[in-house]
Amino acid sequence: MKITKICCIGAGYVGGPTMAVIAQKCPHIQVTVVDLNEQRIKDWNDPNTDNIPIYEPGLSQIVSEARGRNLFFSTEVDKAIDEAEMIFISVNTPTKTYGKGKGMAADLKYIELCARQIARVAKQNKIVVEKSTLPVRTAEAIKSILDNTGNGVQFQILSNPEFLAEGTAVTDLLNPDRILIGGDTTPEGEEAINSLVDVYANWVSKDRILTTNVWSSELSKLTANAFLAQRISSINAMSELCEKTGADVNEVAKAIGMDSRIGPKFLKASVGFGGSCFQKDILNLVYIAKTYGLNEVADYWEQVIIMNDHQKRRFSNKIVQTLYNTVADKKIAFLGWAFKKDTNDTRESAAIYVADDLINEQAKIAVYDPKVSKNKMLNDLDYLETRTSLDNKEYLNAFDNAYEACQGAHAVAVLTEWDEFTNYDWKKIYDSMHKPAFVFDGRNILNSKELEAIGFVYSRIGS
Ligand code: NAD
Ligand code: UGA
Repeated sequence: MKITKICCIGAGYVGGPTMAVIAQKCPHIQVTVVDLNEQRIKDWNDPNTDNIPIYEPGLSQIVSEARGRNLFFSTEVDKAIDEAEMIFISVNTPTKTYGKGKGMAADLKYIELCARQIARVAKQNKIVVEKSTLPVRTAEAIKSILDNTGNGVQFQILSNPEFLAEGTAVTDLLNPDRILIGGDTTPEGEEAINSLVDVYANWVSKDRILTTNVWSSELSKLTANAFLAQRISSINAMSELCEKTGADVNEVAKAIGMDSRIGPKFLKASVGFGGSCFQKDILNLVYIAKTYGLNEVADYWEQVIIMNDHQKRRFSNKIVQTLYNTVADKKIAFLGWAFKKDTNDTRESAAIYVADDLINEQAKIAVYDPKVSKNKMLNDLDYLETRTSLDNKEYLNAFDNAYEACQGAHAVAVLTEWDEFTNYDWKKIYDSMHKPAFVFDGRNILNSKELEAIGFVYSRIGS
């Protein structure tokens, strides 16, 4: 089937950027991104593309180019489903917070709602593409819902997981390592796969477009995230051992990364990984393994999360211990709140957990993040339900610049690796702080020699 109209349900961190790039690269395809969230759609349609709801380097230019030409954002979900030959499902699949599998399994209620809506609206044959990250064998459930409408419409379900990382979404989408498309091995399934291959082939060379069966594709996504997160937990585990032994984790990472079998990427020790997906996807993997009775497999992967929680807690403990075992009423400045640089996303950011621990010790947290609003920070803390919103407001404050956040602080903690932090006038920061002035570098980005020469007591992860 030659695709002329695409609909994407879900205008979030994946749906928005992915569809913007498809629209830019395929001017002959009309792409409509729909969402239930009216404000989000309004923001995507903001005349000034600097105000679109997701900050990603290069994204606003692509949206400017394609929006109104062949890229549309709308709340008219039924209409977009009806018109499209191909429908991407890009809705959120968070960890379940209730019932069976609470705290581990993926919550598929939004996915099921989409499937039911497609089933209700579709009058012609459609290709339904799973873009969201899903437990292996979800396509079976979607197919069962779609095939039981009795209206004679034929559906093909494809799995096309997204591998973009936030902060580099546009470059990842423009130059993907690979595109993965899973589908049925029947002639109709293969035809559907080819339709999607043809869309990507507008800018991705065919040797990077991998086709598999549906289950391999679904499971590859969970596997990729599990392996990536595992590398971080592995290097973070070593960072603690480095601190005890006089080894330096940066040197260890470099030494092992030069082994071509290990490779240099994703070996940065840190205060712990965050983001909406690593933890959620590993918990989901653990849950799936358990449902098949594979307890050793489940325990093996769960350790990646346990190590990550330990790394976050270790960082806050270190701050308390170093500040003479009390941070009560002390101002601790946080540089960064986002889960990584170049994004305004804060989901599961290590900063949230470190702040929560320190507030338990009655510290006053003063945050500066170039892209995150105070409201978002407070919402993140409230979500943990450790204390009332009013208390969170009393203990956390946000500032428009780093110098103000650090003024009068006992310690500065670097929680996100924003480039600008390395270019600050650290002497000016030092002069405005209580002495001894401590810096806890949770991202190993600052120049230790320079800071120590100024007079800071500097410590970082893994040395
Ligand atoms: P998100 O929360 O930013 O966006 C999801 C959007 O779907 C929301 O705006 C929500 O309002 C909308 N939605 C939910 N149900 C709907 C419905 N029935 N009809 C219309 N709209 C609906 O989530 P995200 O970060 O874009 O992630 C989406 C999926 O992609 C998840 O499965 C995630 O695991 C996966 N993923 C995310 C990333 C990432 O970097 N964030 C990368 C790869 C894969
Ligand atoms: C990750 C994967 O990299 C993407 O391929 C995947 O598509 C996505 O999850 C997803 O499924 O959502 P993302 O979470 O956006 O992308 O960002 P990463 O660059 O992977 O960083 C995740 C976390 O790990 C961040 O907190 C980052 O600071 C941390 N990290 C990363 C480290 O601590 N050390 C590293 O060496 C690398």
